Formats: sequence, C-alpha cells, structure tokens
Amino acid sequence: MDAKELFKIANEAAAKSYSPYSRFRVGAALVAEDGTIFTGTNVENRSFGLTICAERSALVAAVSAGHRRFTELVIATPDAEYPVSPCGACRQVLSEFMDPDAPVHFGSRPEDLVATTIGVLLPHDALHDLKGTS
Ligand code: THU
Repeated sequence: MDAKELFKIANEAAAKSYSPYSRFRVGAALVAEDGTIFTGTNVENRSFGLTICAERSALVAAVSAGHRRFTELVIATPDAEYPVSPCGACRQVLSEFMDPDAPVHFGSRPEDLVATTIGVLLPHDALHDLKGTS
C-alpha cells in the first residue's frame, strides 16, 4: 500500500495514544505478509519505564493475531516538528519479524515522510544467527 495511505492509518492510531506524561502521540501501521494492516499506539504508565511504544504495540497485536512476517511499517508522530525514527528497542524487536530490506516510513505529516529500511535502522545485527525460524 502507498506510504501516505498507511500514514493516514498510523495517524488515526496516534489519536488513540495514552500519553499523559510525555504528551507525545505516536501511531504505527504494520502490514502483514497477507496484506492485513495492524495498528498500534504508545501506552504510557505512571511508572515511566513501563511505557510501550506504538511500534511494539502494533507488532504484539499482530503476532497475537497469528501473523509472523511483516512487509512494511509506517510511523506517525503528529506532535513532532520533524520526522521521528523508531527507538532502539523497537528496531531490535521489529527486526525479529521483518527482513532487512523491508521498507519503513516515518514522519509527522504525510509530506515529510522519511523512507528507510529495517536493515538501515539496525545495521550489524549481532544476533542475526539466533533468529527464530518458527
Ligand atoms: N515512542 C514511541 O511510541 N515510539 C518511538 O519510536 C519513540 C517513542 C513513545 C514513547 C513515549 O510514550 C513517547 O513516545 C515519548 O518518548
């Protein structure tokens, strides 16, 4: 699907963000191998370290629904002045279920989307050989 269309879906997910502490809403749209789109948003907690990012929310929902491989990810950060890339933890977790050449787009508005890949976001994957097969 077109990245701008997916951005719209990610942005709708960002509107559901639970982020009373940072006031920073994030939405993710993750495309499964069969084309199903899963969304996620960031869910914060008063014990700040327990916050779950939008990207991992989407991924956990998708894997819980029975999907294992994902072909594309778009992230919307409507509260930022500039495009915000996924955090290090999310890069690692996403790389478990996405190929290095899988496209990732991130941005605050549809016209400022940055195009990259999982492999660019997580180079030198030291644990590559341990990747699960099932
Ligand atoms: N956040 C995400 O959801 N994804 C990212 O890739 C970066 C950060 C969330 C976590 C927290 O709720 C807020 O954005 C500010 O860090």
